[in-house]
Amino acid sequence: MFEKLNILDEKDKRLRQISKDATFPLSKNDIILIEKAIQELTYSQIEKYATKYNLRPGMGLAFPQLGLDKRIIIIVHEVEEGVFDEYVFVNPKIVSYSEEMIAADAGEGCLSVNRDVEGHVPRHARVTVEGYDIDGNKIKVRAREELSIAFQHEIDHLNGILFYDRINPKKPFFNENEIRLI
Ligand code: NI
Repeated sequence: MFEKLNILDEKDKRLRQISKDATFPLSKNDIILIEKAIQELTYSQIEKYATKYNLRPGMGLAFPQLGLDKRIIIIVHEVEEGVFDEYVFVNPKIVSYSEEMIAADAGEGCLSVNRDVEGHVPRHARVTVEGYDIDGNKIKVRAREELSIAFQHEIDHLNGILFYDRINPKKPFFNENEIRLI
């Protein structure tokens, strides 16, 4: 049976904390939450299930959004119709990034932000992220474009940052000459 996760709303102060490093082995509860997050993020991107379970599409989730101050993120990236790459990073760190900046032209969304927030969020076009898998093995990924944005968005959650903190209130929109819009 599918049960929705309890995702904190932006007003909750726990989203503004700096989360602590997770320690191994992860708890049984952590593993269950990771599995549920993968399922919910996947379902949310498949129209049939998104409608059935009333899910807002989302490609990422961070543990603070579940009320847990642990540095764990989950990303489910649709690489082609119905095909998903899953990423679970424990204690992720951006170890290098491109100078080139991009922004999602349609803006960003967040499962904790239940309203539309307009504006471009500047992000690095490419990032290299290191961390650990759920068993404590070292892992590394090079992410670009949409996936790079997702990693930066989720890692921000671990530091108490929400995407709209990065929108310049004096200049919320860029043009193509200022930043590459994707
Ligand atoms: Ni978010």
